[in-house]
Amino acid sequence: MSNKVEVVICLGSSCFARGNKTTLKVIDKYIKDNNLQDKIFFHGGHCFGRCAEGPVIKIDDTIHTGVNEFNIIEILNSKFKK
Ligand code: FES
Repeated sequence: MSNKVEVVICLGSSCFARGNKTTLKVIDKYIKDNNLQDKIFFHGGHCFGRCAEGPVIKIDDTIHTGVNEFNIIEILNSKFKK
């Protein structure tokens, strides 16, 4: 079993069009810049059924709503920078 933290970005059309297209690149860069490839399993997912609250990403079992290219950094820092 993997002990990586799972980060899922919603690639459903609503979230993707409303910002996750850019947030995807920001997360990718964050992982590379911080050498977190061994700690994070990052991948895309289908619509979480919460489009109205989107853009949505999920980190392990926690859904984050209203994510954008700026607040994603705070979310990732709070999870991965102790
Ligand atoms: S498209 Fe992201 S929750 Fe529906």
